[in-house]
Amino acid sequence: MNEIIIKCPATVANLVCGFDVLGMALEEPYDIMEVSLLDEPVIRITSKDGFPLPSDPALNTAGAPLLAMQEELGRPVGFGLVIHKKIKPGSGVGSSAASAAGAVVAANHLLGNIFSKEDMVRFAMFGEKVASGVKHADNIAPCIYGGITLIRSIFPLDIISIPAPLLHVTVVHPQIEVRTSDARQILRKEVLLKDAIRQWGNIAGLVAGFMKNDYELIGRSLEDVIIEPVRSMLIPGFDQVKSQCKEAGALGGGISGSGPSIFMLSKDRHTAAAVEQVMKTIYDQIGLDYHTYVTTINHEGVKILSPHALL
Ligand code: HSE
Repeated sequence: MNEIIIKCPATVANLVCGFDVLGMALEEPYDIMEVSLLDEPVIRITSKDGFPLPSDPALNTAGAPLLAMQEELGRPVGFGLVIHKKIKPGSGVGSSAASAAGAVVAANHLLGNIFSKEDMVRFAMFGEKVASGVKHADNIAPCIYGGITLIRSIFPLDIISIPAPLLHVTVVHPQIEVRTSDARQILRKEVLLKDAIRQWGNIAGLVAGFMKNDYELIGRSLEDVIIEPVRSMLIPGFDQVKSQCKEAGALGGGISGSGPSIFMLSKDRHTAAAVEQVMKTIYDQIGLDYHTYVTTINHEGVKILSPHALL
């Protein structure tokens, strides 16, 4: 087999309080990629759906991880990629990670699964470096592992899958683009000790809440006193969305990754749908185009579909 089709899930990084250390994979949206093994050491990238993705592999979020993989392989193999991008770049739900993680999982599959999941995260982080200027794994790890992941450390990599109860996720993507590099640039470089204490209390509370199936603890731990106060200024209607979604029954939520998408967690589908309605009403009033998803956690990560799967 030298050609496969894969499905690469969107992801929510940070999970509000866990900047760069927590992330979760979503059932929707997702990208589709066709990946083939070539016997010459090149990387050919074609983008479908009209997003202007760079074709130079070194500048492409899917290409850079494959260059790193090629270098470690030390033999002349190449890859052809056709990317059907459904996760909009700059939306905050892990568009670059889906390309990077998908490319390495597919390439590894075509090579006979010679690399571990951790190796694949290590390669895929080169894609995040292209996209945001720094390596981080809070989209890549859940995209590859599925579910919710804690990235305790990236140098060396230490990734822990966190079990969680059934959660419904509502996402609104106001149709503006926030570049992760810009959203990182505006952050303060130092934090007050009192804020750090509150933040690590929340991270520990959130992880404990997931593992104990304690919805109330999950809800009260979804608080970010460090990043959100700065970044939320980039997102029209943010405070309104957050407070009204909670009034509609959401456990809590906040900025998805570096934004502008906002996500909310709910215990049941009915509440998640009510939360979607609140988001729609707010953005209709503001007069800003948006896209919403009502979805759940994806537990498989990047999935190899049949080579003949219909696109
Ligand atoms: N942790 C990263 C950030 C995720 O918030 O900048 C980017 O998707």
